[in-house]
Amino acid sequence: MSTPAAASSTVTPETSDALDNIRIGRVDSYKKLDKIGVGTFGDVWKARHRRSGKKVAVKSVRASGESLLREAALLAACTGNPTVVEFREVVRGGKTDKLYLVMEYAGRSLHYVMGARRRDGRPFTEAEAHRIMRQLLGGMEIMHEHGVVHCDLKPANVLVGKEDGRGPVLKICDLGLARSVTVPSPDTSRPVVGTLGYMAPEQLMGDMDCCSTPVDMWSLGCVMAELVSGKPIFKVEVSECEHLAEIVHLLGVPDEVSLMPLGVSASTPSQLRGAVPEECLSMAGFDVLRGLLEFDPRDRLTAAAALQMPWFTVEDDDDAPSPATARA
Ligand SMILES: Nc1ncnc2c1ncn2[C@@H]1O[C@H](COP(=O)(O)OP(=O)(O)O)[C@@H](O)[C@H]1O
Ligand SMILES: [Mg+2]
Repeated sequence: MSTPAAASSTVTPETSDALDNIRIGRVDSYKKLDKIGVGTFGDVWKARHRRSGKKVAVKSVRASGESLLREAALLAACTGNPTVVEFREVVRGGKTDKLYLVMEYAGRSLHYVMGARRRDGRPFTEAEAHRIMRQLLGGMEIMHEHGVVHCDLKPANVLVGKEDGRGPVLKICDLGLARSVTVPSPDTSRPVVGTLGYMAPEQLMGDMDCCSTPVDMWSLGCVMAELVSGKPIFKVEVSECEHLAEIVHLLGVPDEVSLMPLGVSASTPSQLRGAVPEECLSMAGFDVLRGLLEFDPRDRLTAAAALQMPWFTVEDDDDAPSPATARA
């Protein structure tokens, strides 16, 4: 197998060409098993590498081979990040020229697991959410240090893998909309990318320079709220404008932002604590959530800063502080 770009690299115009040096393998090295994902942009199959017997996920995209290679290059640049799905290789179809991205098979999506737990009446506890958030923030800290912004974090793009003795190992997948902070996106005419419901206000407002690391932190805030409250914090099936109005109603209006066109008057108080009450999230946890869901990207927590908050630092073991401990 070819060697992908080193984990410590930032994605630069040079490394974005990383795949020029990568040998393209053959899809028939893999035996197709089940279809595991019908995404917006393509299909994902579980497959087995015929020689090693290892389970993999093979992704095809409906768009050009160029976009698959771009995704593969960004994934390759994340090699070594324990919270990003492992890149294996790019392969070409036998009869066609179609390209496929091969990754480790990393388990069911968090979206699937959340749905199953909801149906079983076993919502995530704060301790479980704490462990998940620690992993996701750790993964994002490394990704951001290396200059990659995911731009589409949501439960469907997080995979829940095998237990490591303390709980499941999580992996971030789907770098299909990811960007390198140093390489301009191929489609700058389309600033709104991502999934409504997890999209930051600056993305919704169409800021052309918006797709920077804070958008991922906002999305992680939405994932955290969903984990502890058992339901998405914002509706997914709405228009961009309705979603922005929902955000403003939940968080209140920042003084310096004029949102009169949305029919929202100034200094509305935040309703966030009502949506995520203390029964499901301690004060220490809520401080992290509030920091991730800051309206202004300049005030939003970075991944590194979030991991320095008392919710993560006060207890040495992996359990979330109980509400009583956090209040003390
Ligand atoms: N490496 C993987 N291991 C296991 N399942 C995966 C893997 N990659 C993707 N999937 C599954 O396929 C789904 C769609 O893949 P994704 O990369 O998110 O495609 P899309 O860009 O179409 O959303 C994911 O939600 C997940 O359920
Ligand atoms: Mg996806």
